[in-house]
Amino acid sequence: MSEQELDAYWMPFTHQRYFKQHHERRLLAQAEGAYYITEEGERLFDALSGLWCCGLGHRHPRIVEAVKRQLDTLDYSTAFQMGYRPQFTLAQRIVEAAPAGMGQVFFCNSGSEAVDTALKIALAYHRLNGQGQRTRLIGREKGYHGVGFGGISVGGMVANRKMYPSAMLTGVDHLPHTHHLGQMAFSRGEPDWGAHLADELERLVALHDASTIAAVIVEPMQGSAGVVVPPKGYLKRLREICSKHGILLIFDEVICGFGRMGQPFAAQHFEVTPDLITFAKAVNNGTVPMGGVVVREDIHAAFMQGPEHMVEFFHGYTYSGHPLAVAAAHATLDVVRDEHIYARVNELSPVLETAIHSLKGEPNVIDIRNCQLAAAVELAPIEGKPGLRAIKVFEEALRRGVMFRFTGDIIAMGPPFISTPEELKRMVEILGESIRAAG
Ligand SMILES: Cc1ncc(COP(=O)(O)O)c(C=O)c1O
Repeated sequence: MSEQELDAYWMPFTHQRYFKQHHERRLLAQAEGAYYITEEGERLFDALSGLWCCGLGHRHPRIVEAVKRQLDTLDYSTAFQMGYRPQFTLAQRIVEAAPAGMGQVFFCNSGSEAVDTALKIALAYHRLNGQGQRTRLIGREKGYHGVGFGGISVGGMVANRKMYPSAMLTGVDHLPHTHHLGQMAFSRGEPDWGAHLADELERLVALHDASTIAAVIVEPMQGSAGVVVPPKGYLKRLREICSKHGILLIFDEVICGFGRMGQPFAAQHFEVTPDLITFAKAVNNGTVPMGGVVVREDIHAAFMQGPEHMVEFFHGYTYSGHPLAVAAAHATLDVVRDEHIYARVNELSPVLETAIHSLKGEPNVIDIRNCQLAAAVELAPIEGKPGLRAIKVFEEALRRGVMFRFTGDIIAMGPPFISTPEELKRMVEILGESIRAAG
């Protein structure tokens, strides 16, 4: 690549200057199944399923075929005031996969849009329901809800927020995070400690009064913060407190939804039903951008009032329910059904748990966490250079044929649902070797 080409692309969430000097093995050329192939022709096991989205592996033949067929039929279908039958049938399939009581799906194109859409639905719902004073939104420290202004306002990652103090939504508060190494390091699955942290919602209710609070939004399992697993009983407690005070509970399932938890949604895995669920990524195996929000039937019903010729919800995107995304989603749901993907994730999860916890005792490993088919290893930072150790481990792993994700000094993984047990074990062995090599 020429200097100018390297310079022209402003990459998302990337250390540009470092990348542009060290891009060996970091330019992807092709992909197949659970593997990427770099420009150098080396195979990389895709330990993060793209970016948590390609659980069925890359270029699944049935998804490829569906998208190609779609291009020969209808490329783009006007999104507003016109419909395309597969959008409706897809919405129905997603409703069927969702917990009982959820009845409608609103489509958008990303997790960030799904979050902003869910927040708008929550605020508008209370207003339509005669409780327009409920305007406050509650997020959580270390939460990641995408990069829209709504998402960063309820999100809890300082780097994503600090440049924009004047642009944050007003009236937002945050629950404390649940990432406490002193209490929960090396927990297998859900930590025993920490359910009481949900009671902080009662403190916020006492501070602001429930009548001002519209919704609480949390990721059931926090992926972007580095696989932060909810303490046992924490989500149930949040649900109880929200129900008690008439506050809507939004699960941001952009990472959890459609397989990662061995169920359609984390709501089913944790047996806690929220009022709204956001999804994206795995809904169509990351093939074409797509996101959405699933809502409780009565929330949707609250919008269906006034003259019937009037728009009920002034919100939507040009590419809401894009035919290519819809076709890929139908094919994805077919594959998930026919290849028994949820059962497969449930079989693989204990393999990942056993393998990843074998790294306890490796140099600089200060925590290991896992939740279904997601796991993370947290490393002690190099003094004065936070983040650098994880980059070194990431690069050592690339040399050994595995692509992990690093965030701060955490190495995260969410391997493809189609991985074999041997691939998962080898992935973890390579992580161990890389940790030792990085020093
Ligand atoms: C929980 C959660 N919400 C929202 C998003 C944002 O999704 P997108 O990058 O598609 O906007 C992400 C992305 O990883 C996420 O993990």
